[in-house]
Amino acid sequence: MSKKRIVVLTGAGVSAESGIKTFRDSGGLWEEYDIMDVATPEAWERNRDLVMEFYNQRRKQLYEVEPNAAHYALAELEKDYDVRIITQNVDDLHERAGSTHVMHLHGELKKVRSSVDENLVYTLDGWELKPGDKCEKGSQLRPHIVWFGEPVHMIPAAAELSATADIYVIIGTSLNVYPAAGLVDYVRPGTPVYLIDPAEPGAIHIPKFTFIQEKAGTGTKKLVEEYL
Ligand code: APR
Repeated sequence: MSKKRIVVLTGAGVSAESGIKTFRDSGGLWEEYDIMDVATPEAWERNRDLVMEFYNQRRKQLYEVEPNAAHYALAELEKDYDVRIITQNVDDLHERAGSTHVMHLHGELKKVRSSVDENLVYTLDGWELKPGDKCEKGSQLRPHIVWFGEPVHMIPAAAELSATADIYVIIGTSLNVYPAAGLVDYVRPGTPVYLIDPAEPGAIHIPKFTFIQEKAGTGTKKLVEEYL
């Protein structure tokens, strides 16, 4: 008998208890930095060093943090379910916890790519991308991150995957950013949907969902123990 498919959409909140800042909570990254200065193609053209430094600092932090109970609980679920993670996060904590199907909608901190050919993607050795680090075509390497205003190439695949879910779980995302937030529209009617977040959901237009008002670690544990 094939395993039921659980599709899990995660955001920065699933990594919060690992010590990685979210974006829009108080004290979040977008309080410290202006998105327009560090997370847009224009910022890259205008001030490459600042953009490189922003991602270098976040990449460096990856070497100092560990997956948390939520990441491990999701990896554990693979014993009994066909688990597919769709994450907006650019950290590698789902993979490090053992999840084997992780789709990174917004790119990956540990990867860099050519700034002239987006198909030339490399795993960065170490945490620091420097001016002068070039791709095989001789152009400056850039973070392999989807910046605001850039296309989210994985959306069609993520939408298709969302439509195959027998169970849909949303953890730690404010569902503020499209097209990622629109993935919930592809969930088949009647599919059980669970939302795990310590804060009341904002504009979430899913007709019916079970709200587990907890942090990711306790909430995912509760999901597994009480609902699955
Ligand atoms: N456990 C679970 N959820 C948490 C926790 C926690 N410990 N702490 C905070 N949260 C929740 C917040 O309540 C909020 O709903 O995590 C969510 C974080 O929302 P955002 O900071 O907006 O992060 P996210 O939704 O992932 O942002 C989406 O925006 O800036 C872009 O590309 C960036 O991928 C990011 C996208």
